[in-house]
Amino acid sequence: MADAFTRDDAVVTGKTLAEARDELGKAEGIVVLTGAGVSAASGIPTFRDAGGLWEGEKVEDLATPGGFNRDPVRVWRWYQSRRNAIRECQPHDAHRAIARLTLARPDVTVVTQNVDGLHQEAIRQLAQRDSALPPVLELHGSILRDRCNLCSARDDGPSRQGANHTAHIEDRASLPRCARCGGLMRPAVVWFGETLPHEALDTAFERARQADVCIVAGTSAIVHPAASIPMATLETGGVIWEVNPSNTPLSRHAARTFRGDAGEVLSHLA
Ligand code: OAD
Repeated sequence: MADAFTRDDAVVTGKTLAEARDELGKAEGIVVLTGAGVSAASGIPTFRDAGGLWEGEKVEDLATPGGFNRDPVRVWRWYQSRRNAIRECQPHDAHRAIARLTLARPDVTVVTQNVDGLHQEAIRQLAQRDSALPPVLELHGSILRDRCNLCSARDDGPSRQGANHTAHIEDRASLPRCARCGGLMRPAVVWFGETLPHEALDTAFERARQADVCIVAGTSAIVHPAASIPMATLETGGVIWEVNPSNTPLSRHAARTFRGDAGEVLSHLA
């Protein structure tokens, strides 16, 4: 697959990357919707590919409020091992390409289902500053933060290397507690059955409706409402481009389909 993207005129599903790049240059409004495949090259497993995070696991045990209430120690251990692994990971080509695009153009909106903070880290590294950076809309929260399971008070920690809970979890007594109400803290991710953050979701749909192009990269596009966002672009006269080695339910709606690695394809497009 790598060689297919080494030349500017490389043909990808009948159209060229060079053409696509020109079209992107003329587009007014671009939404980039990302999923776990975009962070795969950083060493973070996806959910549903072979060897993915859900393999051999029950989603309802690990990623639902009911699962947490039944066995918070198990849920915390699982998220903490992911959190510790993610803290060791760095952005790679796909994050950097998306960061270049968003820093170069104010009409680019990055919307992610990923909870790893790597888009923000790539933007920060490229801009070489911590403030006044373009926002990334995190639809499924962040694994790098905690929040209270009862009162929702947040503990953001100062940074990616922050002070939120990393200590070894032995039993229920070693679980972190809310400084405000004493309730159990939990990772600040969105679980199945929970509502997505309203502001991020509303902004994502609004930008998608205004966008000429919605680039959908590295997501199986089966978890809604995130997977519905590109349809808002389509319904208002824009187009969907998909970057994914595999077919998804969105593929048949895509005007361009790049069957390749997100890092490689996006580096050519941005
Ligand atoms: P999935 O694991 O469902 O899908 C990952 C997608 O990335 C697949 O379609 C792969 O083909 C594609 N992929 C793999 N490697 C790639 C690469 N190098 N370049 C481009 N694409 C690649 O992950 P998501 O779609 O992100 O939610 O999953 C959506 C949500 O389901 C997650 O946010 C999570 C999960 O359950 C919650 O936990 C609430």
